[in-house]
Amino acid sequence: MLSGGKGLRLRPFTYTGAKQLVPIANKPVLFYVLEHLAQAGITDIGIVVGDTHEQIRAAVGDGRRFGATVTYIQQEQPLGLAHAVKVSRDFLGAEPFVMFLGDNLIRDGIVPYVQEFRGGGMNSLIVLKEVPNPQDFGIAELAQGRVVRLVEKPSEPCTNLAVIGIYLFDHHVFEAVERIAPSLRGELEITDAIQYLIDHGYRVEARHLSGYWTDTGKMDDMLEANRWVLELLEPRISGHVDEASTLQGNVVVEEGAEVRHSVVRGPAIIGPHTRIENSYIGPYTAIDHDCVIVNTEIEHSIVLDQCRIDTGGQRIEASLIGRNVEISPAEMKPRAYKLVLGDHSKVRLL
Ligand code: DAU
Repeated sequence: MLSGGKGLRLRPFTYTGAKQLVPIANKPVLFYVLEHLAQAGITDIGIVVGDTHEQIRAAVGDGRRFGATVTYIQQEQPLGLAHAVKVSRDFLGAEPFVMFLGDNLIRDGIVPYVQEFRGGGMNSLIVLKEVPNPQDFGIAELAQGRVVRLVEKPSEPCTNLAVIGIYLFDHHVFEAVERIAPSLRGELEITDAIQYLIDHGYRVEARHLSGYWTDTGKMDDMLEANRWVLELLEPRISGHVDEASTLQGNVVVEEGAEVRHSVVRGPAIIGPHTRIENSYIGPYTAIDHDCVIVNTEIEHSIVLDQCRIDTGGQRIEASLIGRNVEISPAEMKPRAYKLVLGDHSKVRLL
C-alpha cells in the first residue's frame, strides 16, 4: 500500500499531516484501504512511507487491529508509483501482489479482483472507472477487452477510462520498473511500467469498477467521499444527548460526546469526547474527537479533532477544517473578519 507522496493538492492540510490520514466520516482514508486488503485475505501488508512516516506508523501500528501484519518500507523520495514498487521488491519477493494507493477510496472492496487474479493466467490486472476529467488520471485504451495503451494524465485523453489506484501484479512487474525511464514530471510512472508489460507480450487485463470510487487528493473529492460514506452510516448513540436536543435521520454520537440544546440532522457523526452546544449540525457533517462546537450552524463539512468553534450563530458550509482550529465571534466593534490563516488556506467570505 502506498502512503508516501507529497499531497500538494490538499494543502494546507498536508503541510503537517499525511493526506492518507485525513478522515472521511472520522476514519482515515488509509484505514478503509487496510480493511479492504484484510477482507480480501491479504494480511501481509507493506506500507510505502515517505516524509510523513512517523504519523502513518503512529496511526496504523503493527496492523494487528486490522487483522494484518504491517511492514513499513521507506521511500526516501516520492519518485513515482513504479519507484515505490522498486523499493518494495525485497518485501514482495516473487509473490503476486496488490498495489493499493493509500488515498483511493472505494465502496465495494477488492475480493473479486483478487480471486480472479489468484486463478492465474494474468500478469497484471488493473481496474478502470469512467470519469468526467480523464486528463487528471492515468487513462486506458482497450481493444477487444484487452488493454492496449496507457497514458498518464494526457492533455488530450482519447478515452474517459481512468486507471484507479488498485493494481494486481506478478513478479514480471519488477522487470518493467527496472527498464522504464522517468516521465516528464520526473517520476517512474506505473502506467509506463504496465505499458512495458503490454508491449513485451505479458497479459494485462482490465475490469470496470461499478461501485463508488474517489481519489481523495482534492478538497471537493474529500467532501464528496465524506457524503457517501455518511450515507451508509448506521445510527448509534453512545454519548449523551440532552432532552432539549433533537437528532434526525442517521446520526452517530460517539462515546463521551455530548449534545446539548442542539439539532443534529443526519447523516452526521459526532466524534468521541466532542461537545455540541446550542448548535445546528446539518447533513453530511463529520466532527472528529475532542471538539467543542458552540453557537454554530454547520453542514456538509469535515472538522478534524480538537477544534473550538463558536461562530456566534453564523453558518459554515462545505468546509474542511483542520486540527486544533479556533473560530470565535468578534467581541468588540469594528465587526470584521480577523484571520490567522496558514499558507495556502482558502476562505470564501459572504
Ligand atoms: O488515483 C488514481 C491515479 O493515481 C491514477 O489514475 C494515476 O495513473 C496514478 O499515477 C496516480 O495519480 P496521482 O497523481 O493521483 O498519484 P499521487 O501522486 O497522488 O500518488 C498516489 C498515492 O501514492 C498517494 O497515496 C501517495 C503515494 N505515493 C506517490 C508517489 C508519487 C508514494 O507512496 N510514492 C510516490 O513516489
